[in-house]
Amino acid sequence: MSTVNLSVLKEQSLESINALNTPTDLEGLRVKLLGKNGEITGLLKTLGSLPPEERKSFGGEVNAVRSAVTEALAARKEKLDAIALEEKLKSETLDITLPASPLATGKIHPISYVMEELETIMERIGFTTVQGPEMETDFFNFTALNIPENHPARQDHDTFYLKNKDENGERMVLRTQTSNAQIHSMMAHGAPLRVMSVGRVYRCDSDMTHTPQFHQMEGLCVDKNITFAHMKGVLHRFLTEFFERDIKMRLRPAYFPFVEPGAEIDIEWTYTAADGTQKTRWLEILGCGMVHRNVLTNAGVDPEEYQGFAFGVGVDRLTMLKYGVNDLRTMFEGNIPFTHHFGMDAAKVRK
Ligand code: DAH
Repeated sequence: MSTVNLSVLKEQSLESINALNTPTDLEGLRVKLLGKNGEITGLLKTLGSLPPEERKSFGGEVNAVRSAVTEALAARKEKLDAIALEEKLKSETLDITLPASPLATGKIHPISYVMEELETIMERIGFTTVQGPEMETDFFNFTALNIPENHPARQDHDTFYLKNKDENGERMVLRTQTSNAQIHSMMAHGAPLRVMSVGRVYRCDSDMTHTPQFHQMEGLCVDKNITFAHMKGVLHRFLTEFFERDIKMRLRPAYFPFVEPGAEIDIEWTYTAADGTQKTRWLEILGCGMVHRNVLTNAGVDPEEYQGFAFGVGVDRLTMLKYGVNDLRTMFEGNIPFTHHFGMDAAKVRK
């Protein structure tokens, strides 16, 4: 094999490399030249049979050809890749004037939304939002609220008792009412005080109109010279703001152990009857009253100096009335179409 042949081989190889237009063809040529049975590999294999003096110079030349071919292959590959990328970019240009595909966003559950609404309204009236624990002791859920052991009102609550005891060994329950927040806030902050608390409560009860877990809001106002008239004024304002219209309401005497006197508030409610006509009736909406002196005393507030009013309202009921949900249970089924229908866009939530 002469050097002339080698330089022809080199020239021809480089020429064919630069004429190829696809990575596959390029790879084919690489195998043909440098593969196990390739032309250049073949030349290297002949070195062993040459006399030592020829072997050295011929070997050097073949290796130079091999390097040149290897480099050319790499350069051509790079070029082809760049062209391919260029073409890909050209064919995939984005039309940024097209409308974006819609994002699938969730909605805020009506109960969560209403709880935020309630906080906003009560804060506007001057009440501070507080939290009460859902795992509660007998004392905060019942005893301090003037419902001692063996009091018949305890039976009304169908309580979930917990196996846990608190650090003083006291029996614990899942709170049956948000009224526990009254005692916590009076003990923590004393009087005067205006607080609201909204959250989950639990009763061992389940049918068309009851779920074992539901929601309540509690309001408490304690100050000097607080009267029934303050309570009526605040509740009328609250209901009017919540239902976004002037609410006609009436107070009916009612018994709750933690208030004296106690009342229930009914609101005038217009609805469409089965025969399609508009009818009006009184609808019971919440419980309220003047805080019982025993409750003030139990929470460390002097009833000779301070009076107060308190009220409790079912959040689920309010939600159903305002947004027209007709089955309580549907609200707690984790039903996505329900949440989409009745839920709120996060951006619209007032807070
Ligand atoms: N805790 C009562 C219930 O669960 C509701 C209630 C009534 C709360 C009267 C009050 C109140 O603060 O004064 O049925």
